[in-house]
Formats: sequence, structure tokens, C-alpha cells
Amino acid sequence: MKPSILVARAIFPEVLAQLQQVFDVDHNQADRVMSPDELRASLQGKAGALTTGSERIDSALLAACPDLRVVANMAVGYNNFDVDAMTKAGVLATNTPDVLTETTADFGFALLMATARRVTESEHYLRAGRWTQWSYDMFAGAEVHGSTLGVIGMGRIGQGIARRAAHGFGMQVLYHNRSRLGPELEAQCKARYVDKATLLREADHVVLVVPYSAQSHHTIGAQELAQMKPTATLVNIARGGIVDDAALAKALQDRRIAAAGLDVFEGEPNVHPELLKVPNVVLTPHIASATVKTRMAMAQLAADNLMDWLLHGRTRTPLNPEVCRD
Ligand code: DGY
Repeated sequence: MKPSILVARAIFPEVLAQLQQVFDVDHNQADRVMSPDELRASLQGKAGALTTGSERIDSALLAACPDLRVVANMAVGYNNFDVDAMTKAGVLATNTPDVLTETTADFGFALLMATARRVTESEHYLRAGRWTQWSYDMFAGAEVHGSTLGVIGMGRIGQGIARRAAHGFGMQVLYHNRSRLGPELEAQCKARYVDKATLLREADHVVLVVPYSAQSHHTIGAQELAQMKPTATLVNIARGGIVDDAALAKALQDRRIAAAGLDVFEGEPNVHPELLKVPNVVLTPHIASATVKTRMAMAQLAADNLMDWLLHGRTRTPLNPEVCRD
């Protein structure tokens, strides 16, 4: 008998077909996000699940799904998992690191450029038929090359953004992180470690790449926005909840900072209504890792994680490897 698994959201048909060869698969190619009750019901009798950020795996769900042995998230972020509860329940948790690092760093830089150079704001103006003549200060934005970048969260993606900034755009790079990088990595990224207040005070552009947790909730709120330069920009490609979106909307309305670029939102896919009203913000629907090649690599890695554990007792990218030693 093949083990049973749930693929909780739509994935590439070729990856689904691979899983169907070795598992009895309950899938959701219609891609309707399940409620917690529906997820619990769909997981009955399942040994594994392939999830995305939209499925919450917590102790209540685990208690109701005693057959579950592994949940493979198709994302590097895993704030939808209660990893401690999964470990206690003996359920392996996996994510998809590395395969999306450079693609996501590309997007972080794209959002920084679009924000600083007012790309979408000016496009909306043009599409609305409001462009009647060239003028000297039309959509004059902030300089990117040679300016100072502040990266909050210097993991793999943060380092990718820092390298692009330092080597490609001659930017001075400041960073703040839970722990300081070793001298070799700092040299590669040409990045200088500073405290958060210094970074906020000195950076022309701030990019957030910090994982979401109770500790990182509202890393940027009204107080932090008040410390930034009035000409500065802020980019969030990390997670909704890292920024207090209401405070940010107010800071943008008041021109407390110049502009923001957001790929993630508190309560997404809902977006704070005040953010939708301000012109000086670039808004994208959580697409930082979305190239065909990278999303395919993420889906494949999540599928490999399921196959490795359920069929061979091996792991690739475990978040709680202690489960495998029990
Ligand atoms: C991730 O991998 O965490 C991205 O946010 C994609 O969802």
C-alpha cells in the first residue's frame, strides 16, 4: 500500500505526477485555501502533507491528525509551523532554503529600485493619461547607486541583497542581525555591522529580510519610522507583521519617509486600506521568489522532502532534525 499524503495547494502538474507515482495523493489543484477545519479533515489518515504559508500546523491540528509524520513547506519561511509542537508530536518539518536565495534577492533589489525611482507611481500617472509634458522634477526620486543601504536580517537572502548593493551599485552596506557575521562573510558582502538605531538613522534605503517570530513582530513601527531619514525608503520582502502597516501608511501619508516597497502584508492577502490610498508605495502580491525556475525548484524540494522521509527515512532540509534521531 502506498502511503497517503495531502498536497494542500495547487502545484506544478509534473511534480504532482511524481508524487502520484509513489503516494496515494489527495490534491487541491483547484487551489482553494482550506479553513483549519477543512485542513484537519483532509489530513485524516495522511502520513505527509505538502503545504505553503497558508496552512497553519499547530498543536491542535497535530493532536487531531495522529498519522501525520512529515509536513513539507514549499517556502523558506515557516511561521505557519509551530515547530516545537511538531517536534513533540514526532512530525518532521521541512522548508525550502537555498533554492530561492538569489531569485528573492533579485526581487528585493527590484523592489528597492522601483521604490526609490518611483517606477509604479509614474506608470500609473502615464496610464491615467496625465502625462502632458516633460518637466525637470517630474517623479524625481532617490539615488540608489552610491547611497547607503541598511539590511535588517542578514541571512542568505540579506547577504544576496548586500552583495548586489556593494558590488553592483557601489553602495555602502550597513546591516543589523541577531548575530554578527564572520569576518569572511562581512568582507564578501562589504557590510558593516551596526545597531538597529544607527542603521535606521544612517541608511538611505532600508530592506527587511528578517524571519517572522514573536520577537520580530513590528520590527518597524512608528518609533522606528521616526528614526529614519525623511528621504529614506523602506522595503519589506520578509513577512507581514514585521512592519506595523498602519504606522507605515501614516508615515507615508505624512511624508515621514519618502516611499516604501512591500511584497508582504499583515493579514495578507488583505492589504491595509490606507496603504492602498497612498501613492508613494509599491505593492506586490508576495512574489519575491516567483520565477518559474525557482518555484519549480521549491516544489521539487518540498516533494523530495516528503519522498525522502516517507519512503527512505532520509531528510534533506529538516527544521527539526531531532525527530529523525528518535
Ligand atoms: C518563502 O519562501 O518563505 C516565500 O515567502 C514564499 O512564500
